[in-house]
Amino acid sequence: MSKPLTLIGLGPMGRAMVAKFLEHGHPVTVWNRTASRADEVVAKGARRADTPRDAVAANGLIVLSLTDYAAMYDVLNGVPVAGKTIVNLSSDTPDKTLKAAAWLAERGAELVVGGVMVPPPVVGTEAAYVFYSGPSAVFEEHREALAVLGRTEYLGEDHSLAQLYYQAQLDFFLTALSGVLHSVALVKSAGISGAEFLPHLRDNVGGLVEYLDMTVDAIDRGEHPGDLSNIIMMSASADHVVGASEDAGVDAGLPKAVQGMYRKGLAAGFGRDNWTALYEVIKAGR
Ligand SMILES: NC(=O)c1ccc[n+]([C@@H]2O[C@H](COP(=O)([O-])OP(=O)(O)OC[C@H]3O[C@@H](n4cnc5c(N)ncnc54)[C@H](OP(=O)(O)O)[C@@H]3O)[C@@H](O)[C@H]2O)c1
Repeated sequence: MSKPLTLIGLGPMGRAMVAKFLEHGHPVTVWNRTASRADEVVAKGARRADTPRDAVAANGLIVLSLTDYAAMYDVLNGVPVAGKTIVNLSSDTPDKTLKAAAWLAERGAELVVGGVMVPPPVVGTEAAYVFYSGPSAVFEEHREALAVLGRTEYLGEDHSLAQLYYQAQLDFFLTALSGVLHSVALVKSAGISGAEFLPHLRDNVGGLVEYLDMTVDAIDRGEHPGDLSNIIMMSASADHVVGASEDAGVDAGLPKAVQGMYRKGLAAGFGRDNWTALYEVIKAGR
C-alpha cells in the first residue's frame, strides 16, 4: 500500500531512503537545509517543499534523517506538529531521545525512534535492518511503509531503546574499525602492505566471532575463571602492543586506552581471572 510521507534531511542516508520509498511507490515530500541536496531525489520523483512548515504540513508521517537530535529542534521549532508521527532516524544519546519524545508530546506529536544499522548503499536490501522503539500502536501503523528501508526490529515502548541498541552496536563497530586501522598501521610501519597482512587480519576477525557466546555467557553469569588466560597475562600483552606502537612511531592512544582498562583490572584484584572480568571494571565506570 502506498503511503505518502515527508522526509527531512538529505545527506547520503536521507537520499538513499527517499530513493527506496519512491521505488516502492510511496509519494515523498522532501526538505533539506541546503536546498541543492534535494535535486537528486527531486529528479527521481520526490516533491520539494520550500520550508519545514510546508514539508510537515504535507503528510502525517514525517521521517527525519539528521546529524543529531539538536538538528530536529532547529528544523521543527515553531512548526505545527500536532497529530503528526515523527520517525526520527538520527543518531544521538538515549537521554536526548527521551527529551525529544517529551518535547514532541507537549506539541501533540508522537515520536518513533529509529537507528539504521547499515550504510546508505545497503538501505532497502535484504541485509538492512533498523531498530525502532516508541508507542507500539503508532509504530504498527507505519511498520509496512518503514519496512522498505530494511527489516524492522521493534524493541518496545520505551523511546530510548532503539537509540541504546544503536549506540551499543556503534560502540563495538567504531572500536573494531579503529582496531583494524591501528593494526594495519603497525605492520605498514615496517613496510608490509595492508594486502599482505589482510589474510591474517581476516583470521583474527573470524576468531572473534568464536569468542562471542563465551564472553556474553561469562558476563551474564558473572563468572570469569582464569584457567586458560588471565588478566595478568593479557595486561602484559596490552603493554606489549603499546610498546610496539611507540617503537613504530604510530599513534598509541587506542592501545593505551586498552592498557588502561587492564591496569584497572589488575588494581581491582582480577589478575587471576579471565579477561572477561574487565567487564566488572567497565560496568563500574571507574
Ligand atoms: N551515512 C551512514 O553511513 C549512516 C549509517 C547509519 C546511520 N546513519 C545516521 O543517519 C543520519 C544521517 O546520516 P548522513 O550520513 O546522511 O549524515 P549527513 O551527511 O551528516 O547529513 C545530515 C543531514 O542533517 C542535516 N542537518 C544537520 N544539522 C542540521 C541543522 N542544524 N538544521 C537542519 N539540518 C541539519 C544536513 O543538512 P545539510 O545538507 O544542510 O548539511 C543533512 O541533511 C545520522 O544520524 C547518521 O548517524 C548514517
